[in-house]
Amino acid sequence: MTEHGEGGPVIIAVCGKGGVGKTTISALLARVLSEDTSARVLAIDADPAGGLGFSLGFEVPRTLDDIRLELISQMEEGGSKESPEDVRMRMDYRVAQSLGERGNMAFMSIGRPEGEGCYCRVNSLLRDIMTSIAAGFDYVVIDGEAGIEQVNRRVMEGVTHLVMVSDLSMKGLRVVANLKEVADRMVHYHGAGLIVNRIHNGESALNLQVPPGIHVIGTIPESDTLRRLDMDGISMTQMPEGPVLDQVRYSLEKLTGIPRRSFQI
Ligand SMILES: Nc1ncnc2c1ncn2[C@@H]1O[C@H](COP(=O)(O)OP(=O)(O)OP(=O)(O)O)[C@@H](O)[C@H]1O
Ligand SMILES: [Mg+2]
Repeated sequence: MTEHGEGGPVIIAVCGKGGVGKTTISALLARVLSEDTSARVLAIDADPAGGLGFSLGFEVPRTLDDIRLELISQMEEGGSKESPEDVRMRMDYRVAQSLGERGNMAFMSIGRPEGEGCYCRVNSLLRDIMTSIAAGFDYVVIDGEAGIEQVNRRVMEGVTHLVMVSDLSMKGLRVVANLKEVADRMVHYHGAGLIVNRIHNGESALNLQVPPGIHVIGTIPESDTLRRLDMDGISMTQMPEGPVLDQVRYSLEKLTGIPRRSFQI
């Protein structure tokens, strides 16, 4: 268990405006966290549009939503004579099967957000399962959907740390301000911080009008290497050492208080 987990996993949710680098940063966070080979890391793609699997080199056959829909249709067909325990066991098994795994890193995709109708029983089971799966890991990194709607109760409930991402634009920062406001009401987290991404040569984050109450935990430069990896569909696990990874490690230390050296090979 991590020294910072207070008995549970460190669950980091990454959020921000569309296109600012949430998926890239989620992938880099998962990569850096998994460098401690004694730690188990789960990366969750909670963006219905997907992308994190690609950035981490995982392909999974089914999303959590696929499993949810399968179970709903089976329950409807069979008039469900199964006990809740049986349904739960069947779901646990399928969810475990839907995890991609490589070394000490695992990956799961949520798929679509909650679909039509209110299948509260299944949805609440899923929520339980998310929590029980997360408990088997030291670190969980969740790549969220763009915008503020998905400081998503279904998956964000157990979040311990919030990473907000923005570029230097006012639009990006405005979303961050809204996110913080919503998150403060809905998520009981231990720490939150802003990573300013894509800072070009000659630009500075120093004069940035950071919304009140938000701490900048890292500033990531615009990187041709990173852009090229992404263009070629190469996983962020292949990102070479340099200022980008240095800043990711620095941000993790600022966010969680876990010393940076724990994140180095
Ligand atoms: N520091 C960086 N340097 C260069 N390119 C970057 C950097 N960060 C992100 N990018 C590029 O910006 C684009 C958007 O990044 P990414 O997909 O991570 O954003 P996102 O916030 O997840 O987007 P969406 O809201 O669509 O999910 C990608 O092509 C990525 O390669
Ligand atoms: Mg994304």
